[in-house]
Amino acid sequence: MRLITLNRSESGYRLGKSIYYENGKILLAKGTILSDSLIKRLTQFNVFTIYIEDDDSEGIEVVESIPEELRVESIEAVTSGLTTIAEYTSNTSNIQGMMQSSKSIDQLQKTFKNITTSLVENRTALNLLATTKIVDNHLYTHSLNVAIYSCQLAIENGLPRKEIEEIGLGALLHDLGKMFIPPEVLNKPDKLTNEEFNLIKLHTKLGFEILRKVHGLPLVISHCALQHHERIDGKGYPRGITSNNIHPYAKILSVADVFDAVTSQRVYRPAMLPHKGLEVLYSGSGTQFEKKQIELFRNCIAIYPPGLTVKLNDGRTGIVVHYNFHSVGRPLIRIIKDQDNQKVQPYEIDLSHSKHLTLEIISADALL
Ligand SMILES: [Fe+2]
Repeated sequence: MRLITLNRSESGYRLGKSIYYENGKILLAKGTILSDSLIKRLTQFNVFTIYIEDDDSEGIEVVESIPEELRVESIEAVTSGLTTIAEYTSNTSNIQGMMQSSKSIDQLQKTFKNITTSLVENRTALNLLATTKIVDNHLYTHSLNVAIYSCQLAIENGLPRKEIEEIGLGALLHDLGKMFIPPEVLNKPDKLTNEEFNLIKLHTKLGFEILRKVHGLPLVISHCALQHHERIDGKGYPRGITSNNIHPYAKILSVADVFDAVTSQRVYRPAMLPHKGLEVLYSGSGTQFEKKQIELFRNCIAIYPPGLTVKLNDGRTGIVVHYNFHSVGRPLIRIIKDQDNQKVQPYEIDLSHSKHLTLEIISADALL
């Protein structure tokens, strides 16, 4: 199968992967033959890319980094967790609310343990693009994705399990304060006014104030909420603190947070592909983010995930078949067009193989 943008799909194309609602229900099942009306419906749902099956991409498999069942279970835990904590802990005199919040946090911790186990057992570069979802509330999906990326980065840092799990919980709760920011400001498609941006910035302090009062929650979790927009050059917010004063967990979270934000679809802009998202991180390496974290993060993600169409520096076009963990920028490619853009009998070359080291991917797209 291969990834294509919806605006380039045509009636008659066969869907390579199911398209899900956020709650795990299937909107369109794998194998569905697309019609004009189905394509229109997907456009209305803001779907930007889909996987299709065709002869050129036959046999190319796209595997989810997190099993679908665990993802759905986790989204449910994040949704009810953030809602419960936001509702009850804003009033700390409410004992019942405190207990409900503690219960939600236990549930979030349990869920995240399962995610950590899954990531530790299946050491693979992350490809969160692999599931096409209809997302209602970006906050929940974003919180889960940031937790998954942070967890992988924490593993890559060689941190002990206890710290990995703390970072995960910090990531699941890092944007809690956004529950109190009006959605019309959070999702505003146009440029924000200074006033609106100042309002959004408040989510860090709001999250901190709520989380530090939750009984039994380590204080470092509330600092994840407070510090995830701080930058090592001091140009972040809310306090503008610099590298030495930023907690190591927040340094990991900030990388994961920005990567997920730019590689996720929003109503007002399409998602960047992973290699572009990585370029955004590199542009802030050593100023916004710690260099070491960007280098480690590079190993955590499938820069060129299977199904992506790529162009090589010698002019040939191919589809990514497979990548090796820790060689994520040099995948196995199935060449489908020659230097003159003419279709050829498909054949494969492995960019990680020494005899192909002069070949480079110069551009990638969801169909060139
Ligand atoms: Fe945030």
